[in-house]
Amino acid sequence: MASQDERTVMDPRVAQNRENWDDRTEIHLGSEFYDVERWLREQPGPRAREISALGDVSGLSLLHLQCHFGLDTLQWARAGATVAGLDFSPVAIEAARDIARRAGLADRSEFVCSDVYDATNALGARTFDVVYVSLGALCWLPSVDRWAAQVAALIAPGGRFLIHDVHPAAWALADDSLTIEHTYFEEADPFVDDSPDTYTDADRPLVRRRSYEWNHGIGEIVTALIRHGLRLEWLEEHDWTVWPRFPWLVRNGDENFGPPPGTPRVPLSFSLLASRPD
Ligand SMILES: C[S@@+](CC[C@H](N)C(=O)[O-])C[C@H]1O[C@@H](n2cnc3c(N)ncnc32)[C@H](O)[C@@H]1O
Repeated sequence: MASQDERTVMDPRVAQNRENWDDRTEIHLGSEFYDVERWLREQPGPRAREISALGDVSGLSLLHLQCHFGLDTLQWARAGATVAGLDFSPVAIEAARDIARRAGLADRSEFVCSDVYDATNALGARTFDVVYVSLGALCWLPSVDRWAAQVAALIAPGGRFLIHDVHPAAWALADDSLTIEHTYFEEADPFVDDSPDTYTDADRPLVRRRSYEWNHGIGEIVTALIRHGLRLEWLEEHDWTVWPRFPWLVRNGDENFGPPPGTPRVPLSFSLLASRPD
């Protein structure tokens, strides 16, 4: 199979993001945030909201785009699906294969290293019963339309697409207050980040710090999926997210973080289910 660089010329900003993600991945693998050893011990399956969205996945094929080192991918293998994860970071893909072996799930999983914009080529034009995306994916992509074209082409007729990601209104907020600091809509010019920190706890600063991010409005996301032939089943905007993205968020139960009582409720994440007509 052709290497990534032989297949497409990668946007230089995306190439720089890949280096940044290789560094982040090394840090994340040792973080308490992901706690891989605990994950291997406790063997979690999909979250209740994900099961309620997709139902029984046993016997289905499922592709996880931007899978990082595969924890969210492998939970679906535990629920009975045959899974594939795709990510552009070779460090993350190698780690995902290793975690799959250690979890005893190597025979129900595969991990592919590719830019998501080249996913159909990298997967040899295969299609899947379910395409799935979990938190923290869309902001790394310059064009939501190019992404939606890939998503739609990867779903088998009658198949489904599930995403849970950061809400673009939350992405537009300042880090420390309920103030709009960034544009809500997709723009050609990215947000440039040179911070030495990643979003997990870390035992060292990032070396390759430069990363580029793009926001995409909810209307732009939904319209791109519909334009490429998917049917919207439902869209939910949530006043919670699954990690303390802002210092002013408070813990809501075991899994979620939301605004403290008495502050305005703003959308922090969203979920969307779409299907590909037969
Ligand atoms: C925030 S992480 C996803 C985390 C995942 N939801 C989890 O909990 O494990 C974002 C992932 O997107 C990947 N990524 C970013 N840009 C990409 C691209 N253009 N193509 C493929 N993967 C990409 C990164 O390597 C990283 O693993």
